[in-house]
Amino acid sequence: MCGIVGYIGPKQCIPVILEGLRRLEYRGYDSAGIAVIDGGQLRVQKRAGKVADLAQLVERDGGSASSTVGMGHTRWATHGEPNDANAHPHTDCSGTIAVIHNGIIENYRSIKTKLIRDGHRFKSETDTEVLAHLIEQTYRRAGDLFTAVRIALRDVEGTYGLVVLSSREPDNMIAARMGSPLIVGVGEGEHLVAADAAAIVEYTRHVAYLEDGEIAEISAGGFRTTTIEDVTVDKEVHELTFDLAQIERGGYDHFMLKEIHEQPETIRNAIRGRLLVESGDVKLGGLSGVSEKIIHARRVILLGCGTSWHAGLVGEYMLEQIARIPTEVEYASEFRYRNPIVTSQDVVFAISQSGETADTLAALRLAKSKGATALGIVNVVGSTIARETEAGVYIHAGPEIGVASTKAFTSQLTVLALVTLFLARAKGMSQKDGAVLAKEMQSLPDKAARVLDHADELRSIAEQYKDARNFLYLGRGANFPVALEGALKLKEISYIHAEGYPAAEMKHGPIALIDEHMPVVFVVPKDAIYEKVASNIQEVRARKGRIIAVANEDDEEIAKMVDHVIRVPHTFGFFGPILNIIPLQLLSYWMAVSRGTNVDQPRNLAKSVTVE
Ligand code: F6R
Repeated sequence: MCGIVGYIGPKQCIPVILEGLRRLEYRGYDSAGIAVIDGGQLRVQKRAGKVADLAQLVERDGGSASSTVGMGHTRWATHGEPNDANAHPHTDCSGTIAVIHNGIIENYRSIKTKLIRDGHRFKSETDTEVLAHLIEQTYRRAGDLFTAVRIALRDVEGTYGLVVLSSREPDNMIAARMGSPLIVGVGEGEHLVAADAAAIVEYTRHVAYLEDGEIAEISAGGFRTTTIEDVTVDKEVHELTFDLAQIERGGYDHFMLKEIHEQPETIRNAIRGRLLVESGDVKLGGLSGVSEKIIHARRVILLGCGTSWHAGLVGEYMLEQIARIPTEVEYASEFRYRNPIVTSQDVVFAISQSGETADTLAALRLAKSKGATALGIVNVVGSTIARETEAGVYIHAGPEIGVASTKAFTSQLTVLALVTLFLARAKGMSQKDGAVLAKEMQSLPDKAARVLDHADELRSIAEQYKDARNFLYLGRGANFPVALEGALKLKEISYIHAEGYPAAEMKHGPIALIDEHMPVVFVVPKDAIYEKVASNIQEVRARKGRIIAVANEDDEEIAKMVDHVIRVPHTFGFFGPILNIIPLQLLSYWMAVSRGTNVDQPRNLAKSVTVE
């Protein structure tokens, strides 16, 4: 949610900020703005629309080209509709202090009422604007910007990653964090600040992560950090693990298509160095110290949201069937508010691509506070969830920029499969059985590449169904979550209503929807319940539903029963979701393209949901 980038150093800052905002646009894209110090004055330009619209405005209005200190913001609206006035930065009454903010100020109404009583004039409907006026007020007593922000934040409840710039102190900017990520980029004679490393990796690979409750004063030559209570903090500087090429489109029309096609490689990366095929073992350094705890846990709880929750559902099948460990999967957003019974005998895995999802983080913290062992399955290295877990496994999918998650899902599943085999072996699975599973797992990247060979077929199917208003996705066992995920992908980027169901549930209600206008996608691998799903296919056929089936390469009967077949290689049941989801990702992608929607930046969505 909301992109933030700031620069201070010798360079002209506007191109650095605009480029940074373009790279962060996937975090929010309803409006954008910048503030720079220009000839000792604060200059703000902002507008509803995309970063490209802001860039046009900046070019048209001219000026500020020589400015070397500034910050920019791309917004995902929470309070106040996306219009010019509500776009960030927001300024105080004197127009000398500007604030950009990611998060929600929960007590903004009471602060605003008081500030209005004190004579402040507000120009927007946002919660963020109160920060600018509050800092204006505290500046009078504090005398410097750092102290003013620090004192102001003591009155603030909610979440923030924020940056403050003022013409009163043109040689520094202030950044503070509570619940929304912020990193400081450390360069040679220049410093940057951003909500995500993608904005700054072009300029520096050295970063410091601000923690909740910390505030930093950043200048061209360095930065210092304290807590809001004014305790000095020494920040460690880390090196980023990805490079610029990984966050570019690389010749593809959309990031989503690039990320779908990266999957053979990203699945391979998740496995690399972890699978010992001959001995049937898995090496997971991150879990070696806690494996006993997991094996003897009362139960494992998998927490996540959206696609990551779907990965958890598949993980439940894997952990229960193969490792025989009692497992529950919970929506993080529900778990955190229902006073769950969690004890020190439970082990919790937070599953998150971004590692910053507010609900997942809060659920994790709750489980930790109740004594559970807190582990993570995370993509973004150094993210908050990665740092707040006792141990965990990175999925190594590389930066995922498309708002609809694709490669992160298959990497999450691959890591869950590794964790399962790791625990199964530790619980006594024989070397022979372990080796059979490991060998099959090793073949998954090549099998994923084989699925992608059918990419063009999906394009022509999508063309035929692009005007459908509803879709039903059905699957059983570990492929039920695949049905859910396929439906979610379609909803997110093509705006077609879609539902995922366990195939056998169809007769308990959804069958009422079936007629010749209802496309039904079946995930129907040749497994122990193939015949059962085949019966469900017949039920849909009898009601004239149009059927698209994801089926195995060696399934000779399926083509007679359905309208379209997408072939996937055969694999063991619980690995199946890793392959079976790929055609559904492609179907959604091509449906969105044929309907002309914005694939990488679907309406109303944003990557990395750092607000509740
Ligand atoms: C769907 C999607 C979202 C995320 C969810 C959790 O395509 O991207 O449903 O999966 O917001 O995000 P992470 O995994 O970053 O915690």
